[in-house]
Amino acid sequence: MSVSLIGRPMTRVDGRAKVTGAARYAADFNQPGQLYAVIVSATVGLGRVTDVAAAEVERAPGVVAVLTHRNAQKLPYLPHKAGIDPAVGERLHVLQDDNVRFYGQPVALVVADTLDHAERAAAALRITYESRQPLVDPTDQRAEKIVPEAANRTRALADRSRGDADTAVARAAVRVDETYDMARENHNPMEPHATVAAWNGDRLTLWSKSQYLVNEQAEIAAIFGLPAENVEVICPFIGGAFGTSLRTWPHVTLAALAARHVGRPVKLVLTRKQMFFTTGHRPRTRQRVALGATPEGRLTGIIHEGMGETSRYEQFMEALTNVTDYLYSCPNVRTQYRLTQLDTGTPNHMRGPGEASGIFALESAMDELSYKLGIDPIELRRRNEPQMDEAENKPFSSRSLMQCYELGSERFGWARRTPEPRSMRDGRLLIGMGAATATYPAFHAPASARVRLLADGIAEVEAAASDMGPGTYTSMTQVAAEFLGLPPEQVRFRLGRSDYPQAPSHGGSWTMASVGSAIRAACVEAQAQAARRAVADANLPVFGASVNDLEWSEGRLRRRGEAATGLSYQDIVARTGVPVEAERSAERASEVAERYSMHSFGAVFAEVAIDPDVGTIRVRRIVGAYGIGRVVNPLLARSQCTGGMIGGIGMALMERTVLDPRDGRPVNAHMADYLMPVNLDIPKLEAFFVDEVDPHVNPLGVKGLGEIALVGTAPAIANAVFHATGRRVRALPIHIEDVLTA
Ligand code: MOS
Repeated sequence: MSVSLIGRPMTRVDGRAKVTGAARYAADFNQPGQLYAVIVSATVGLGRVTDVAAAEVERAPGVVAVLTHRNAQKLPYLPHKAGIDPAVGERLHVLQDDNVRFYGQPVALVVADTLDHAERAAAALRITYESRQPLVDPTDQRAEKIVPEAANRTRALADRSRGDADTAVARAAVRVDETYDMARENHNPMEPHATVAAWNGDRLTLWSKSQYLVNEQAEIAAIFGLPAENVEVICPFIGGAFGTSLRTWPHVTLAALAARHVGRPVKLVLTRKQMFFTTGHRPRTRQRVALGATPEGRLTGIIHEGMGETSRYEQFMEALTNVTDYLYSCPNVRTQYRLTQLDTGTPNHMRGPGEASGIFALESAMDELSYKLGIDPIELRRRNEPQMDEAENKPFSSRSLMQCYELGSERFGWARRTPEPRSMRDGRLLIGMGAATATYPAFHAPASARVRLLADGIAEVEAAASDMGPGTYTSMTQVAAEFLGLPPEQVRFRLGRSDYPQAPSHGGSWTMASVGSAIRAACVEAQAQAARRAVADANLPVFGASVNDLEWSEGRLRRRGEAATGLSYQDIVARTGVPVEAERSAERASEVAERYSMHSFGAVFAEVAIDPDVGTIRVRRIVGAYGIGRVVNPLLARSQCTGGMIGGIGMALMERTVLDPRDGRPVNAHMADYLMPVNLDIPKLEAFFVDEVDPHVNPLGVKGLGEIALVGTAPAIANAVFHATGRRVRALPIHIEDVLTA
């Protein structure tokens, strides 16, 4: 028997290309005759463009064109096709009118022969505005709260209820009823958004940073009124994204618009500052969580009311309150989700979108309840562990939350914790230990893949997927090698082209479940085709055999039970030189989705050390234990988890985009003042996986990983801060002044 490749800690197949610079990111592509475009961003928060002194800069060195709403081509902006980019409503129509809807909105585009010339001209372009006061504070009483439109509801559900939660909480022996706030965060991947656009007649090629290539293709086709097949999107590598490249933002339209306007290829790269304007952000949220419990610690009622910010022109929704009705056993649960419309750009999914924010509130409240009850926080979770998904009335396909708590507690040393707040010290430092639950849905989206067995023995595998960093190239190579029985060196996996077989967005932690399942199906089919070809070939030893009498072992075909060396794919294909080719799609069977509630679970433990005199908070270590079904590559999986934990440290203690209330300007739109964890902030991070076999989720048994590693980290840290200091901080990020003694 061959050693399974799935589960092996293989190093990255693209590692060498990345460290040598051979890997090409969107902005690394260049086209002959290419020009450079620079966006001019609005400097008012709401109003109209009344004048653009374009003529002045049109004469500047190297400038080829200045595009504004006055001279830009009017674009059809056809409606989204069903299934494409479903999270949004109306898009921002760039350079189509004089409206300024939010600070930083693109209002002009300068195209020049060099980046330097374009930047200088863009900086010199004088724009006159008529401005009004924008509303940018979600807690402002004037801000309109709306129920998300049903037509736009995808994952986020408004107003779910079972039992009578309000009465149950009001009558509960022990109660927690608090409000939790979270700051706006901006995705800050290393690689900025970038697009190189080149037209050839009415065909457009985009080398563009994207987590969702076929959507970018469909979106740009719809905006320009083209058939989708006229647009090709190429994106072989992504330098981190965390959700910001799930949508096609205005800069892609602008690059294509400019390239058409000047009749030459155009490169457009956003500045770091512009990454804070038009490419989405984790929305600010305000949440109320009320819990009622018996003195023994059984939950009797849960209320979770969440509010997230959105723009005036679109309803961005995320799964803010979704986890609350399945996470714990409770007869009375009510969740509600509202949006507040502001004069800002539309938010977007950011790692663990919704779940990460929602669980901060829920898991903080659970921690608060544990202290009120005098019950260990983990024991409290144990007492409320459900036997099934009580919201959906379905069994879980698998649920290892308690095993995660057991494994995590043991690895973390939870037993050493003394329950009393402010009871643990290391010298003069206050030590705190906190824990929180993590969970994320085990999604599955329809996906396709193609396998080609070539005459030289190589198997080519293709899907229009992306790899923003988790190691998709590597893990998919493992899956293909596994099901073809080939060594991974003989598999060449390609992604990052919209003309490859369709793949869903590279998000939602569903790439392995979806694309991996499609690759498996295509490999199984390619193998069957190879066998059929072999038995039909008079010059091969298996000629005339029934396919059912043959078996494949380690990529070789022989008669069942025979000791012969057997035939390789190469032996079969080389006979004619015509590759065996199979394309297959995979999606989750609807009966599986109807029968089971499918989620990943985890337990996160954090230890903090706080200086009681100056309030500095240091995370000393984090341990996460996760039940995510089958782990395809433990090395990559641990890397995903530590990355998510680092994001969680940022969420808990640092990341916050601050808007100037006068004009909505992000005042810290740069990496000096938008604080993110750096090496010195990162302690020992450990991730463990419980052995979990989920026979239902998909043929690979994978539940997905990525998002769950961010979910749960921030509340674990906040709970540790309380344990260290006795201060409950209900607003993230937690600041020094929050924990300083008065
Ligand atoms: Mo993730 S927010 O689905 O890129």
